[in-house]
Amino acid sequence: MNKLIKKTALLLILLAPGYALAAGGSSFLFKTPNIDETDKAAIQRGARVFVNYCLTCHSAEYMRYKRVADDLGISEEIMKKNLMNPADKFHDGMTVAIEEDDAKRWFGVPPPDLSVISRARGRDWLYNYFMTFYKDESSPIGVNNATFKDVAMPNVLWELQGWQEPVYADAAEHGESDGDKQIVGMKLVETGKLTPKEYQQTVRDLVTYMVYMGEPAELKRHEIGFWVLAFLFVFLMISYALKREYWKDIH
Ligand code: HEC
Repeated sequence: MNKLIKKTALLLILLAPGYALAAGGSSFLFKTPNIDETDKAAIQRGARVFVNYCLTCHSAEYMRYKRVADDLGISEEIMKKNLMNPADKFHDGMTVAIEEDDAKRWFGVPPPDLSVISRARGRDWLYNYFMTFYKDESSPIGVNNATFKDVAMPNVLWELQGWQEPVYADAAEHGESDGDKQIVGMKLVETGKLTPKEYQQTVRDLVTYMVYMGEPAELKRHEIGFWVLAFLFVFLMISYALKREYWKDIH
């Protein structure tokens, strides 16, 4: 028994650094809801938003439509009907609709490929990015973002979310210039098609899709992991039964 306690303690110590990292503090405006990148329904809803609202400007070349369909367990037909633009091919990657040169001319910066953006930015950053677009008359595109200051990307989800204005820390305490005031929240000034709650869920789904896209092996890994553990458990039972059998006569 003593041994068992020692072993459990050792295991906990070995696992501890991971938990410590996961619990690190953050300076984001909004708390990210739980993102489960193995939730197939959420991935599918997120993929739909992604195809409809993002692929006009961004590509996700390393992500093939077929791969998404296979991982989600949906047929080629359903995939084509619900999650692909008519011009796209099932075996191709998610390519972009506009030419890079045009994009550069229009936005000043080419919209980056988003295949592995979740690994570069992290889920909290992405969730907050889509929660913090706001109206800003002083910006050339009329929009700004509290997570990505002076961003060149338009607020493509405004139809769904509506428009927000920032809430500043005590305005009187800060200087006149807008740029330096600290943003502490967002206020909806024009409603969109979705309620705030529905919009948060949509962003959560979109981020879930992006996290999945950055690590598509994750889904498989979870499935394999389950069987590996199941095997080890059965194996343990057999070894234990054998041990008892062998030692029976010696005791
Ligand atoms: C109208 C074109 C356009 C559309 C549509 C669009 N974006 Fe963008 N996006 C851009 C541009 C341009 C940038 C570069 C912004 C910059 O660097 O200032 C960008 C930047 C980004 C970034 C930040 C990349 C970085 O530097 O880390 C993310 C994340 C992103 N877009 C995600 C999305 C998602 C998800 C969608 C769909 C919901 C979307 N974008 C739709 C044009 C677009």
